[in-house]
Amino acid sequence: MGGTDLTVVFLLIYSLSHSLRRVILANNRFQGNIPENLSLNPGISYLDLSNNLFKGNIPLKLGAWNNLSMLDLSNNSFDGYIPSELGSLDNLQKLRISSNMLTGPIPSALGNCTKLLSLDLSLNSLSGKIPLEIVRLEKLQNLVLSGNKLTGKIPDSFTSTQSLLELQLGDNILEGQIPVTLGNLQYIYLALNLSNNKLTGEIPATFSNLCKLQVLDLSRNSLSGQIPLALSSMISLSFVNVSFNQLSGNLPANWIKLVAQLPNSFQGNPNLIINNEIEKKHRSKSTWRIPLVTIACILSLIGGALLASRYLAARKAHKLSAVSRISKRGFDSTGGLPEDLTYEDILRVTEDLSDKYVIGRGRNGTVYKTEFGKGKCWALKKFNLYESSFFLEMKIMSFVRHRNLVRMAGYCCRDGFRMIIYEYMAGGTWWNTV
Ligand SMILES: *[C@@H]1O[C@H](CO)[C@@H](O)[C@H](O)[C@H]1NC(C)=O
Ligand SMILES: *[C@@H]1O[C@H](CO)[C@@H](O)[C@H](O)[C@H]1NC(C)=O
Ligand SMILES: *[C@@H]1O[C@H](CO)[C@@H](O)[C@H](O)[C@H]1NC(C)=O
Ligand SMILES: *[C@@H]1O[C@H](CO)[C@@H](O)[C@H](O)[C@H]1NC(C)=O
Ligand SMILES: *[C@@H]1O[C@H](CO)[C@@H](O)[C@H](O)[C@H]1NC(C)=O
Ligand SMILES: *[C@@H]1O[C@H](CO)[C@@H](O)[C@H](O)[C@H]1NC(C)=O
Repeated sequence: MGGTDLTVVFLLIYSLSHSLRRVILANNRFQGNIPENLSLNPGISYLDLSNNLFKGNIPLKLGAWNNLSMLDLSNNSFDGYIPSELGSLDNLQKLRISSNMLTGPIPSALGNCTKLLSLDLSLNSLSGKIPLEIVRLEKLQNLVLSGNKLTGKIPDSFTSTQSLLELQLGDNILEGQIPVTLGNLQYIYLALNLSNNKLTGEIPATFSNLCKLQVLDLSRNSLSGQIPLALSSMISLSFVNVSFNQLSGNLPANWIKLVAQLPNSFQGNPNLIINNEIEKKHRSKSTWRIPLVTIACILSLIGGALLASRYLAARKAHKLSAVSRISKRGFDSTGGLPEDLTYEDILRVTEDLSDKYVIGRGRNGTVYKTEFGKGKCWALKKFNLYESSFFLEMKIMSFVRHRNLVRMAGYCCRDGFRMIIYEYMAGGTWWNTV
């Protein structure tokens, strides 16, 4: 669909306001501006416009769509500021606007979206400071602000009640010291990435609490001093990069094995002792260092073993709670479609649109019956390639409302694939008349 006018699409969305909850228009070539006058509030809960050619400003009126739980505008050509009106979206759980051309500050009003789980504003030209209000969001799990022009210090106000699993602040112009309170983030395990900024001072010893963290990237900053030996207790680390800083001294015992695996990760620190030969030479020069180093190693080994056993037990518990958390928020409490249903999910539950799910075939498409979550049944109508009846059918469905007619629950329009999802009605013959 080369260059479909977006206004047409949005007029349809207005007119579908009562039956539609989900709109997926990802991976098309839709272009143009989103009309400024989005005055109606269509009650949509899921809007995915990613990977298109949309341009212009993000409409302020989107801030009034307060049923939105997922808004994905990433990989388009939106420019201008992020409207602070988005802070009124009380139900927002995911906001993704990465890879656009946005400028100006990150609105601190986004701190009002207290249900936010995932915020990705990476790869824009956002400037100004990281708002304290965002760092304080208790439920936030993924905070991805990398690849912008953010300045100032990273707020030092992380607490142990926060849910962050991933913090990506690389490729910005952040300065000052690494916040000591990052050590409070007890759940963080995916990544802590502060690479390519202007951070100074030492690596905080509080990082020794981050025993679930797997990926730590502090490369290309101006960090100095010794890497605290207590960081040996970061027993889950499988990737570290501290290259191109001014770090010095010995590595934490537990990190030495990483040198062989990741030789580039320690380069560019002229005073860092990274190979055993230099270390041995230093040891034999000063006799008083031998017992100290030995004691430190033994202590950290004992500590490491204790932590490892506690960690293994904790990991078991954590995995279970993570799973139940995801499934709880994964389904819409109204009995509608699962909140985070994707195109890939549709292909999976229908085994790549296998014939065994077909309940009707018509002139312009095929209807499949399937279940998503909760055991509720849905009818998926997949339109034949090059079939223009998709938009027409959406239009008809929005004007003809009758209790004997099926209700549309959402639609998906991606990679040239068009599908409408209806609530399934047993015993209907409608499926054969499509
Ligand atoms: C929005 O503005 C466009 C023209 O800019 C107009 O065609 C359309 O009818 C307007 N929609 C509403 C809902 O006011
Ligand atoms: C928002 O969602 C609720 C629950 O699904 C629904 O009752 C309400 O009508 C929706 N709001 C709008 C403006 O459609
Ligand atoms: C961005 O969107 C374009 C289509 O507009 C697509 O070709 C490209 O692969 C997308 N990039 C990413 C990183 O998804
Ligand atoms: C965010 O909350 C503050 C304080 O409650 C309020 O003053 C501000 O107007 C809110 N902003 C938005 C965009 O809702
Ligand atoms: C850290 O972030 C930078 C900038 O976004 C990125 O280039 C780099 O690959 C990231 N490091 C890791 C280990 O993912
Ligand atoms: C660590 O970061 C540096 C600088 O960004 C990069 O050149 C190097 O390849 C990285 N090391 C690894 C193992 O990714």
